[in-house]
Amino acid sequence: MVMKKGLVVTGDAQFLEDESTKIFARKVADHYSARTNQTLEEREASPIIHLKKLNNWIKSVLIQLYARRGDAVVDLACGKGGDLIKWDKAKIGYYVGIDIAEGSIEDCRARYNGDADHHQRRKKFTFPARLICGDCYEVRLDKVLEEDAPFDVCSSQVTDSFDVGFALHYSWSTEARARRALANVSALLRPGGICIGTMPDANVIIKKLREAKGLVFGNSVYWIRFDEEFSEKKFKSSSPFGIKYKFHLEDAVDCPEWIVPFHVFKSLAEEYDLELVFVKNSHVFVDEYLKRPDFVELMRRLGALGDGNQGQSTLTPDEWEVAYLYLAFILRKRGQPEQKRVNSRRDKGKMQISKEDIMYVGSEI
Ligand SMILES: C[S@@+](CC[C@H](N)C(=O)[O-])C[C@H]1O[C@@H](n2cnc3c(N)ncnc32)[C@H](O)[C@@H]1O
Repeated sequence: MVMKKGLVVTGDAQFLEDESTKIFARKVADHYSARTNQTLEEREASPIIHLKKLNNWIKSVLIQLYARRGDAVVDLACGKGGDLIKWDKAKIGYYVGIDIAEGSIEDCRARYNGDADHHQRRKKFTFPARLICGDCYEVRLDKVLEEDAPFDVCSSQVTDSFDVGFALHYSWSTEARARRALANVSALLRPGGICIGTMPDANVIIKKLREAKGLVFGNSVYWIRFDEEFSEKKFKSSSPFGIKYKFHLEDAVDCPEWIVPFHVFKSLAEEYDLELVFVKNSHVFVDEYLKRPDFVELMRRLGALGDGNQGQSTLTPDEWEVAYLYLAFILRKRGQPEQKRVNSRRDKGKMQISKEDIMYVGSEI
C-alpha cells in the first residue's frame, strides 16, 4: 500500500484518483491535442529533426524485430498514428489505436484514411483498424476490447515521429494508474504476446539532476526541471510514484512527466505476468543494432546519421544527449501461445474510419 498526499491507494482493485492526477492527465491530453500536423518542410526545419529520425529508426527496429505478418496490434497512446507506416511494413493484420487526446485521434484517423497531406501519395493501409479515445491508465481496456482481444503485440511508444515524448511514463503519477496501465497490457495480450515500449530512462535523468547545480538541467534543445520538494535530490524507495518533473523539448514536448524507476516497473510488470525480455538505453541500442547491415541500411534511408553519400548532416551533440534520456524495452506475457490463431476480431476494424466510428470511453467503464 502506498500513501501519497492523503490519497490511499491499495492497488488495482481500488482505483482512486485525486483531482491533481486528473488535471495533469488533461494537461497532457491538451498539450498533444493542440499540436498540429507539420508539413514535410516544417518537419525538416525542426531543430531536432535528426533526433526524430533516430527515434523513428529505434521504433522501426523494435517493430521489425518483434511484429510478425498477420499480428493483431494494440497501440496504447498511439498519438497521431506516427507508427502506422511501420506497422504496415510489418504486414500486421489488425490495428487498434488508443489515445487520450481527441485532436491526435482525429489526426490518426485522417492519416489512416490517407487524408493527411504528406501521406496523400501513399496507397491505402493494408490492415483494418479501430480508433478509441480514452485514458489508457484509467479505463478497463480489457472490457472495452473484450471482443478484439487477445492481441499479439501491444505497443507503447514515447517517441513519435513528430514529438519526442513518451507514453507509459504518463501512467506513473500514482500507483493505481501504473497498475491499471500494466493490467491493461497484460489483459490485452495473448500468452507469449509482446509489449514493445520506449520511455525516459530514470537512471539517466536522476544522474543528471544530481550532477546539476540546481534543480534544472538541459542544453540548447531541452530542459528538465524538478520542483523544490526534490531539492535534496533524494528519492525514497517507499514512494516510487508521483515523482514529477517538467520536460521541455524544442518543437516537441512541454509537459509534466513522471520518473519511472525501472526496477519498480520491472517487478510491477512481473505481478501482471509480464516478463522483461530486455531493456536498453537508446545509446546502447543504437550501438548494438547498428552492427546489423539491414538496420544500417534502414538508418541510411531514414537519414538520422546522414545518408552516407551527399547527406552529411547528422545528430548534433545536443540531440545525441537527448537520445540518452530514453530507453527501449520488451516485455513478454507469460504462458504458451495457442497453436491456432483466432482472426474473427478483425471484423471489428474498418478500412475507412469515419468520425462516428471513433469510440470515446470514460472511466465508468
Ligand atoms: C509522444 S506521444 C507518442 C505518440 C505515439 N505513441 C508515437 O510514438 O507516434 C505521447 C502520447 O501519449 C498520449 N497519452 C498521454 N497520456 C495518455 C493516457 N493517459 N492515455 C492515453 N494516451 C495518453 C498523448 O496524448 C500522446 O499522443
